[in-house]
Amino acid sequence: MRVAIGADHAGVMIKDDIIGVIKELGMEVIDLGCDCKESVDYPDYAIPVAENVANGTADRGILICGTGIGMSIAANKVEGIRCALVHDLFSAKATRQHNDSNVLAMGERIIGPGLAKEIAKVWLETDYEGGRHAKRVGKITAYETN
Ligand code: RB5
Repeated sequence: MRVAIGADHAGVMIKDDIIGVIKELGMEVIDLGCDCKESVDYPDYAIPVAENVANGTADRGILICGTGIGMSIAANKVEGIRCALVHDLFSAKATRQHNDSNVLAMGERIIGPGLAKEIAKVWLETDYEGGRHAKRVGKITAYETN
């Protein structure tokens, strides 16, 4: 599995921790930045990560900013993206099982690196359940494409 990752200046520390998790799981990392502490704009990272997922270059994406909110709003503007803003383990599992989320957003100013790494691991390892959820996800896709 190939995982695209991006962060702004407020998420760059956790980005490095999450890259370690992805590698430990034997997955490929596509690091789309940023690598600096200077102020940058989160859409400049959210949209490329989301586009990598939408066009199949990556299977999943992970985004980190201060709150995760800006990243999730921007990523969800890209057709085919279901970005979930997650700060707890229950939601990390449920959003994969129920929503087939293909991008995960987290906020470095909300949670610490330990929980962020656990969330990323659970989210990356949990499969979509399909079944009754497929009709619901399908309605989102139908609205998006019509
Ligand atoms: C940067 O200050 C901050 O606004 C950004 O990281 C993010 O939290 C936006 O949603």
